[in-house]
Amino acid sequence: THSYRHILVEKKGEKENVGLIQLNRPNALNALCDNLMSEIAQALSKFQHDDAIGAVVITGNEKAFAAGADIKEMQNLPFADTLKGDFLNQWTAVSDCKKPIIAAVNGHALGGGCELAMMCDIVYAGEKAKFGQPEINIGTIPGSGGTQRIVRVAGKSRAMEMCLSGLPITAQEAQQIGIVSRVFPPEKVVEEAVKLGERIASHSKLIVSICKESVNLAYETTLREGLHFEKRLFHSTFATRDRKEGMTAFIEKRKPCFSDC
Ligand code: CAA
Repeated sequence: THSYRHILVEKKGEKENVGLIQLNRPNALNALCDNLMSEIAQALSKFQHDDAIGAVVITGNEKAFAAGADIKEMQNLPFADTLKGDFLNQWTAVSDCKKPIIAAVNGHALGGGCELAMMCDIVYAGEKAKFGQPEINIGTIPGSGGTQRIVRVAGKSRAMEMCLSGLPITAQEAQQIGIVSRVFPPEKVVEEAVKLGERIASHSKLIVSICKESVNLAYETTLREGLHFEKRLFHSTFATRDRKEGMTAFIEKRKPCFSDC
């Protein structure tokens, strides 16, 4: 076991096949300082290499998922340093992870917190969660996907409204516009996210990662290219033992026994 300063990491689920990362800087509303983000990257990399893990849940606490990048850390940061250090670039570890990540959001998901949630594959929220891109209030703009991912899920008008007003929206609104897929009572969010993670982890991990890659491509490319790529990935599942096992188990009216190869 590895000890971290700003996050708590455990394995959840009956079969301990769901990784849980809890952001743990409660006094700063889980502001995403550099160290916290590198700890998330490390924890994700460990889960990525752990064959037992089939999905990961990222959560915060009841008050805050995360209130954004750390403003205290950024206050005196010179432009040249942001460029030299490629500031915030390590956040891509989240969107680059091959295993599915579910965000379980309670409280504030603001700025980088909202962006972190949107980097995850699925977002579950508690009834009192708030999502927003308040960077404009402090003289900057979203720097980890806020101006890009909201447009793709919710369209230009909602993205402009959120990014230009800086005002947060409720969990229910976030669900209506597609940022969130389900809303639960606050105390149920993590439990439900872990349950979904367990369901995902019960499938072939190999096929799950192929499926995730295919869905993600819909963000990146034209429909024609995406459909072509999907077809090729679909074909590639026929090179796996798990595809044969899944279909054979169906025909034999039994549960499949996947071996992730
Ligand atoms: N960075 C650093 N510290 C933060 C923080 C942040 N983003 N958000 C909150 N904190 C700190 C506060 O400074 C405060 O610390 P002190 O006790 O040392 O003063 C502590 O957390 C508690 O915060 P508040 O007293 O402000 O709590 P509140 O309940 O009154 O307000 C809030 C909650 C509305 C979320 C408010 O904290 C807030 O507006 N936070 C900033 C939100 C924001 O602007 N986020 C965007 C950051 S920029 C960004 O994320 C760039 C990007 O795209 C990646």
